[in-house]
Parts: sequence; C-alpha cells; structure tokens
Amino acid sequence: MERLLRDSFLFLSKNRILTKLAKRYGLRFGASRFVAGETIEQAAAIIKELNQKGLAVTIDYLGEFVKTEREANEMVNQSLEAIRRIGREGLDSQLSLKLTSMGLDISDELVMNHMRRILSVAKENGVFVTIDMEDYSRCQKTIDILKRLREEYDSVGTVIQAYLYRSQKDIEELDSYEPNLRLVKGAYKEAAAVAFPDKKDVDDNFRKIIKQHLLNGHYTAVATHDDAIIEYTKQLVQEKGISLNQFEFQMLYGIRPERQLELALEGYKMRVYVPYGMDWYGYFMRRLAERPANVIFVLKGILKK
Ligand code: FDA
Repeated sequence: MERLLRDSFLFLSKNRILTKLAKRYGLRFGASRFVAGETIEQAAAIIKELNQKGLAVTIDYLGEFVKTEREANEMVNQSLEAIRRIGREGLDSQLSLKLTSMGLDISDELVMNHMRRILSVAKENGVFVTIDMEDYSRCQKTIDILKRLREEYDSVGTVIQAYLYRSQKDIEELDSYEPNLRLVKGAYKEAAAVAFPDKKDVDDNFRKIIKQHLLNGHYTAVATHDDAIIEYTKQLVQEKGISLNQFEFQMLYGIRPERQLELALEGYKMRVYVPYGMDWYGYFMRRLAERPANVIFVLKGILKK
C-alpha cells in the first residue's frame, strides 16, 4: 500500500498540466508547510527566523520542466537575486539548484555558462552552491558538470543518492576533487536495474557512503530525517575522531522541526533546505510520496476548510 501511494505521488509529480495549474493558483493544499512562500521576501523572512533559532539554511528557487533558454535565464536571475539578498542581509544561507532549471535538457554549454554566472556572484557573496541530484537519467551529466566546475570554483558541490548502485563508485571518482557532498537516500522513482528496490539495502548503502566520504576527509552533509542514520553518523564521528567542522546534518523545511532544533542545541551544525517560488507542485508531490503521514496532514487541512 505504502509503495503504491509513493509511486502514485511520484507519477503525479511529473504531470505538466497540474504543474502549470498549480503555478497559476498559488500555494495550496497545505504546501506552505513545506514551501517557504512564493517570493524571495517571504523566503528571506523564514531564513531570518531559522537563523535566529541557530539553524543554517540552503535556499532553493523552485522550477520544474525548464525547456527553453528564456525559462532557464529566468531561473538564473532568480538565483542571482537570492544570492545577492543573502549577501546583502548577511543571512546564514547557501543556495541549492537543479541543473535542469539551468537548461540541462537544452545543452551542457548553456548550463556551464549559467553556472559560471551564478558561481561568480556566489563567490563575491561568500555563498556555497549545491547542485541537487535529479533522476538517474541526469546523474552522469550532473557529475561531469560538477567536475568541470570544480576546476574553476571552490564553493560548489553536489548530491549523491544512496539508492543508486553507482553511489560508492561516484564518491571514489570524485575523491580527487575534494568535494563537499550532500548524501541522501534518493527521492525519485528508479528502476531496479539502477537502484536498490529495498529500503533496507538503501539504508545500508547510506551508512556505507557516509563512512566512505567522511573517511576520505571531505566535508559531508548527511541529509536525512531518519534517527537511525543520524545516530550512526554521531557514533561514527566520535569513534573516528572526526571534527564537528567536517560534517553537518540537513533536513527539509517543515519536516521534524523539533528534531532540527534538538540537533542544533546538541552542538551539531544543522542546515534546513528552504524551497520557495511559484513552481511548488512537483516538490510538494515528492514530499507526499516520502511519507503517508504527510498525506494525512494534507487531507486534514483540506477537510478543515
Ligand atoms: P525516510 O523517508 O526513509 O524516513 C526514515 C525515518 O525518518 C522514518 O521512518 C521516520 O522515523 C523519520 N521521519 C521521516 N519523516 C518524518 C516526519 N515527517 N516526521 C517524523 N519522522 C519522520 N533527494 C534527491 O534525490 N536529490 C536531492 O538533491 C535531494 N536533496 C535533499 C536535501 C535535503 C536537505 C534533504 C533532507 C533531502 C533531500 N533529498 C534529495 C530527499 C531524500 O533523497 C529523501 O527522499 C528524503 O530525505 C527522505 O528520506 P529520509 O532520509 O529522510 O528517510
């Protein structure tokens, strides 16, 4: 039942008509629990609140199905505006973005040009940029582009998904680039030919890649809401004498906010991923796919109206 629900929401997340409709009608159906607003002003207010509570942030301007150069250019402008705002207001925030929103489905060179614009302004403002990892069909391209960017810029990293069989090899191949990586379980629907179908195998591999990247000596963001993985990381860093400055925990905005605060109070660096923008639908569907309790929360919200 849980898998059926998950697959249905992941299927819905790719629906272009619903994506367009959602954009037109604004944040609805309880999406504001997971999305910080439609504008940078609203997002900046949320960042300030989180910063005041001792939480760091990574901000993401949402954009799905970017198919034209004009649309990609608009995404770049929004990201530049966010970076400048972070710099101007001294917010404790990084930036996250998706390469499809930079034009990955149009051409690699367009993406490189867009990323150079973003990373130059990010450097001026001291803002680190993480390239989110999308579905498997874009994984190799994303890693290739990261490698090229790392030759020119320090403050850029990407995400490795534990559900992919290739993840350990990717970390090994990225080792010489000394990358700052965010490690996650993986949020897309992938075939058994490329990804572990069973949750237990994903969790086991998640532990393996956390250990691998930390012991390689590189900065590691463990992005999960799973207490078992958090405990594993805490024990590992203690056992291996890994400094608090070499890793952080990350969680999504609106998910386990109390746990986020607890970890920060325990002295760990805790970063919250804060998405904003009109294009909230696909992101919202992926969150519903992750957890039936999220769906119940949304249904309760709708019934109350
Ligand atoms: P999972 O969903 O398996 O949950 C494990 C356990 O955590 C649950 O059993 C429960 O105990 C606890 N839990 C989870 N949600 C809870 C809740 N709402 N309340 C209480 N307990 C809860 N994916 C991707 O493919 N590419 C990417 O670039 C990113 N980027 C990214 C950034 C950040 C900051 C995060 C946190 C996540 C991502 N992801 C991602 C998403 C990621 O791949 C994954 O889909 C989600 O994080 C869900 O997996 P968890 O590790 O949280 O565990």
